[in-house]
Amino acid sequence: MDTSRPIIALDLPSARDALDLVARFAGETLFVKVGMELFYAAGPGIVSQLKDAGHDVFCDLKLHDIPNTVRGAARSLARLGADLLTVHAAGGRAMMEAALEGLGEGGGSASVVAITQLTSTSPEALRSEQLVEVPLVESVLNYARLARSAGLAGVVCSAHEAADIAAATGEGFLRVTPGIRPAGSAIGDQARVATPGTAASMGSSAIVVGRPVTRAEDPVAAYHAIMTAWRTGSDA
Ligand code: C5P
Repeated sequence: MDTSRPIIALDLPSARDALDLVARFAGETLFVKVGMELFYAAGPGIVSQLKDAGHDVFCDLKLHDIPNTVRGAARSLARLGADLLTVHAAGGRAMMEAALEGLGEGGGSASVVAITQLTSTSPEALRSEQLVEVPLVESVLNYARLARSAGLAGVVCSAHEAADIAAATGEGFLRVTPGIRPAGSAIGDQARVATPGTAASMGSSAIVVGRPVTRAEDPVAAYHAIMTAWRTGSDA
């Protein structure tokens, strides 16, 4: 899994839109993310189509159910050829272990990363809705350690949490970071953003970029500029 390439989030409404975008990168092998919007609109076949076109596919479906169901879901995703997938750490150790078992049964070699606390969860909601009394960062680190002990490959986290997670879990545990914005670009609905260069220097091990590529006038040029900043650690 080559994470020196930014992962492009294909948050698009149809298979046609996704395949048209990817086709603009003629001859390039991409790492793309299929999330709920595209997966539910286009169906599982979109994963196979992207794989058949030679791309690596991150299935960001944030699995969270009883272990037996997650095991079956992971088995199905493995058979589709997914290279990376997400589960919610809140589902617990047994559920995360079941995801790994399901992957093995499906013959896949995917890595699994955990969602800790969603970045949309505020410290206030953590306390009043989840009745979690520890600071948000403690809850994130707790879930990261749990995911590691269950055998997962890493977590999804903001660049701002990456160094703390590396300190708590070790360098080899992946920190996959969305919320990336090139220097000077629109933030949109993201709150805790980082540029590709700062994400690299803050300890992220992979970056996920959606709208700065998919909505760019020239997606290919935007992608290459982000890749250069990510690889060099410099946004200049
Ligand atoms: O368009 P943008 O670059 O904001 O897209 C970021 C992608 O990363 C989206 O697919 C979004 O769902 C995903 N994501 C996120 N924050 C998280 C987890 C996933 O933005 N905490």
